[in-house]
Amino acid sequence: MKRILFAILMILATFSLCFAQSEEVEALLNKQIKVTYNGEYQEFQNVSGTRVYPLSYEGTTYLPIRSISSLFKSKIKWDGASNSVYIGDGELDTTSSKKVVNPSQGTNENIKVLLNKDIKIYYNNQVQTFADANGKVVYPLSYNGSTYLPVRAVSNLFNLKIDWDGPNNTVKISKDEQAQIENKIAVVYFSVTGNTKTVAEYIKEELGADIFEIIPKQEYVDADLQYNDRSTRATKEQDDKNARPEIKNDIDISKYNTILLGYPIWWGDCPRIIQTFIETGKLNGKTVIPFCTSGSSGISGSESTLKSYKDVNWISGKRLTTSKNEVTNWVKGLNLSISNEAKENNNLSVNTIKIEVNNKELLVELENNEATKELVQKLSTGNVVVNAKEYGGFEKVGPLGFSLTSDDKNISTKAGDIVLYQGNQISLFYNSNSWSYTKLGKVTNMSSEELKNTLGSSDVTLTLKK
Ligand SMILES: Cc1cc2nc3c(=O)[nH]c(=O)nc-3n(C[C@H](O)[C@H](O)[C@H](O)COP(=O)(O)O)c2cc1C
Repeated sequence: MKRILFAILMILATFSLCFAQSEEVEALLNKQIKVTYNGEYQEFQNVSGTRVYPLSYEGTTYLPIRSISSLFKSKIKWDGASNSVYIGDGELDTTSSKKVVNPSQGTNENIKVLLNKDIKIYYNNQVQTFADANGKVVYPLSYNGSTYLPVRAVSNLFNLKIDWDGPNNTVKISKDEQAQIENKIAVVYFSVTGNTKTVAEYIKEELGADIFEIIPKQEYVDADLQYNDRSTRATKEQDDKNARPEIKNDIDISKYNTILLGYPIWWGDCPRIIQTFIETGKLNGKTVIPFCTSGSSGISGSESTLKSYKDVNWISGKRLTTSKNEVTNWVKGLNLSISNEAKENNNLSVNTIKIEVNNKELLVELENNEATKELVQKLSTGNVVVNAKEYGGFEKVGPLGFSLTSDDKNISTKAGDIVLYQGNQISLFYNSNSWSYTKLGKVTNMSSEELKNTLGSSDVTLTLKK
């Protein structure tokens, strides 16, 4: 009996070994199929810049992993020693996919590919197995030195919607807006002497979240903060339950549903400007997690004030010090489910940059488009200096020294708007003009009058920084 059992086990073991082995199979190099991402046709290329096409095998469409990562803006790393591909780790490839107006097509070819059962694909540090639309396990394919993954399974992995448009022979991938909003997190903070700002930056870094600063219309200077003297501004405001200091900038958090709200403790409470912010209604319906810094007081006094605003879903917060370890441990413990894709997007869409001009610093809130993502990436390698000419009594315009992806539309600019002009010039407006531009962002920390005065009537040097 034992011998029979052993024999059965051996047969099973041999069978499973055979099963796990890679094999050469015939597939179709599909030059007829088209792929759209968010409604735009895409073409793909390999690392040496040669055009590559989707593969079709047993009713499943495959794309090279490099193109997928480039398309979905996710990092990628190949580890030859362990025959593993890591998605979401390593380098960001921006070149292996590009949007086109008319994808060029060719004649399909029957080719031999390797059905690669040995390679491991990691996403979020977990090995992935893939299934087709009917739930059958499918394996990566290897062809011409590239690894191809089933596009439906990978799109699901990235929380994307995928549709097959048979009549037009097109695979349509798109963002499921609801899924995207569910993962959107922002950090909003107020800080005068920089402690809360430091903490907010650590949280942003840990979560890959977007970050917004509440800037008071009337800046707090040292004399306002002398809490030993009850007649100084901050203390007077805290003593007056109805004080609502005005906010200078317009913070748009409509697309986020979880907010981490940071502030210093002033007299055991949150600064009144936090109430000004809450009373704009921008937090209503959102989940908000407060955090604070202080000399020693805890957060509970301020939480009583916050919780009196019933339209906000408050989660218990914490007083934090500026220890990075403490902050990241706290954030990890919150278990906020931010998807890797959202994290990548958030990381790329750093939503503010600064422009230094005539010894003043302009805070610029960026649009979310290809041009701003490329600009942010460029600025991560160093500042960009633009010699901008006075033009027309409404703008300062000058060459960036490089091109950005333009998506020009006819727009009427307002004072403070920043646009891309002809793909390689930047224009900063202090008055209105109507023309075809790609909007890059707007100045948020100056009124149009202040901006006009800062820019003056001559040519200026604009220093763009992260
Ligand atoms: C007007 C005022 C009142 C303060 N009240 C308190 C307090 O009640 N308890 C406390 O521990 N710290 C208090 N502090 C200290 C601040 O909370 C602490 O320095 C905080 O980290 C400052 O944050 P910031 O650098 O982001 O502005 C007070 C500071 C000021 C200016």
